[in-house]
Amino acid sequence: MPSTPLIIGHRGASRDAPENTLASFRLAFTQQADGIEADFRLTRDGHIVCLHDPGTSRTTGMDLAVADATLAQLQRLDAGSWKGEQWRGEPIPTLAQVLGMLPAGKRLFVELKCGTEIIAPLAADLARAAVPADRIRFLAFDHLLVAALKERLPDYRACWLCDYRWRGGWHPSPAQVLARLAETGADGLASRDRAILDAALVRELRQRGLEIHVWTVDSARGAARLADLGVDSIMTNRPGWLRRALEFPGEKA
Ligand code: G3P
Ligand code: CA
Repeated sequence: MPSTPLIIGHRGASRDAPENTLASFRLAFTQQADGIEADFRLTRDGHIVCLHDPGTSRTTGMDLAVADATLAQLQRLDAGSWKGEQWRGEPIPTLAQVLGMLPAGKRLFVELKCGTEIIAPLAADLARAAVPADRIRFLAFDHLLVAALKERLPDYRACWLCDYRWRGGWHPSPAQVLARLAETGADGLASRDRAILDAALVRELRQRGLEIHVWTVDSARGAARLADLGVDSIMTNRPGWLRRALEFPGEKA
């Protein structure tokens, strides 16, 4: 019987609460998530903030590009009310705030949506927060960033994000995925939930000692397949619901 993979709240408990806010992260932990995934970008004045998109319009209604804005400008925005009146006033958090609210023993998957310029401020935030390195995973689509993270922050594990349709229309084979992981020195694959991630690829990854994390899985059937494959974690927008669905498969949600 395979053990349940770690359940990681994708952008928090983002089905129920505004993604990438402290409210969403708190709710994920209330729902017994083992950890959270969150997206991070660098502001013009060198702070790391938690936001998925390059700009703020979708989640705040105000159109600022994170890379051109200061932290103070971003912190004035309301990143909650688009999701519902009860979330009005939820701010865009900083990485430091997210590290500071991480409960003991829980995990933080730090998806970096910038280039290597984020590494120095990232190192500074991590040093100040002193969250144990084994509780943190860096994730990035940019394999060059993964390689740079492994070189400059070797105490932390970094996984390469692959959605199997890389820039320029690249549709990699399993062998190409394994080759890229080797090139970058990544500690694991953070895979989109696709059929290419099958028993054969999982076996190859395990033989190389690599971790396997999968996103975004909001269906019980998809999660059960991945649990059978023995992946390490599942990122889901519905952490509470998905844990129940995996642990009590016969029950209606
Ligand atoms: O980190 C996994 C996943 O979140 C990557 O895609 O677009 O949801 O950030 P995206
Ligand atoms: Ca993400």
